[in-house]
Amino acid sequence: MTDAVPMPHNRRPATCPFRPEPRLEALREVPELHRLPVPNPQLGQFDAVLVTRADEARQVLADQRFEAGFAFDGSGPRTVMNQPGILLNYDGEEHAHYRRMLTGAFTVKRIRSLAPAIRRLVEERLDAVEEAGPGADLVETFAGPLPLLVICELLGIPLEDRDDIQRRSATGTDVGNTLEEQLENFAAMATYMGELITRQRRDPGDDILGDLIRRHGDALSDDELIGMGNSVLVAGHETVSSMIGLSTLALLRDAGQFAIVRDDESAAASAVEELLRLLSVAPPLVRQASTDLKLGGETISAGERVVISTLAANHGADLVPEGPDRLDVLRKPVAHLAFGYGAHQCIGQQLARLELQIALPALLRRFPALRLAGDFESVEYRDDALVFGVSRLPVAW
Ligand code: HEM
Repeated sequence: MTDAVPMPHNRRPATCPFRPEPRLEALREVPELHRLPVPNPQLGQFDAVLVTRADEARQVLADQRFEAGFAFDGSGPRTVMNQPGILLNYDGEEHAHYRRMLTGAFTVKRIRSLAPAIRRLVEERLDAVEEAGPGADLVETFAGPLPLLVICELLGIPLEDRDDIQRRSATGTDVGNTLEEQLENFAAMATYMGELITRQRRDPGDDILGDLIRRHGDALSDDELIGMGNSVLVAGHETVSSMIGLSTLALLRDAGQFAIVRDDESAAASAVEELLRLLSVAPPLVRQASTDLKLGGETISAGERVVISTLAANHGADLVPEGPDRLDVLRKPVAHLAFGYGAHQCIGQQLARLELQIALPALLRRFPALRLAGDFESVEYRDDALVFGVSRLPVAW
């Protein structure tokens, strides 16, 4: 079935930002596949098969004949995504080659060892929020800077460079900027990452860039290392920022759930898993069929694109039979798709979980009477950005 109206596939209804638009929910209940024009900030508008159910999403993501790297143009102008070393630009053996190197650096031990630094950064940022008070924009003071500072720790970005990186990263993810501004900013980031890599090649640090250089420095070009560094920076910043902002909003809307996360330390892990599922902030995942393929008994022709709404899939009754649109921080965790599935499943998921499990309870404990400054209807959402989130979150305490 073809629908002529472009579909805001990642938008949420204004009345409830924590569930898919009714139209997306309706499509999830129809057994046939839908082909829709999809607006995508990076790839422009294209027609695609929309996948809204968890089982079909897993089937596509597990089958590498549905390729992720189709949009990479090695000879085209370099942008945030169009550069070598970005894992999502590759498929098959080539992807496995880069992914093995990066997973080797993302060990459980390294991620766990970041916990004290994350706790320190969280407390420092909370001090800054308190100083800005009696009220503050939580995105500007906490949700925005914290994940970037954590990535700086992970990549070994020196303290004195972090303000600069923060400014550039904000420019890079601001959807209001022109393509020229984005390209200029990207070039500046690439130059910075190149300088960092030159320094690290001379004296590799005890961070993931240093680790990659020590173990694979001869096999990886500077360009590939820049891409790997940038992909971690980009993939690990806005996603976690959005999760902190939106999760706080979701908890502020529900005093009972807020109290559980604030008062019960043991609830942190299930709360974060539930928030990841409910909010599903990642952009819809795009694949392209490399050959004619079957899905749900129908044929997807070679060259056709598939767009997976993890938001819709994570709210389906097949995945969550009881109240899928309700926040239940004590819910037994379900096998959600917020980090994707299959070969490209998020490499930073353990780090994201750790950050959220530390940051959210710490925020609520520091400000036990935290409240939204203003009404819920006036909250501004970033629904035109790749990663869904709130633009600002004015709070008081
Ligand atoms: C709550 C936060 C996060 C969410 C919701 C998230 C979500 C995702 C999703 C859905 C994918 C799969 C994309 C696809 O299949 O097309 C992905 C891939 C990826 N993520 Fe995350 N992510 C988060 C945090 C992070 C962090 C903290 C890092 C790194 C520090 C990171 C690094 C990556 C990388 C490198 C990939 C590409 C993996 C590959 O192609 O093999 N992410 N992420």
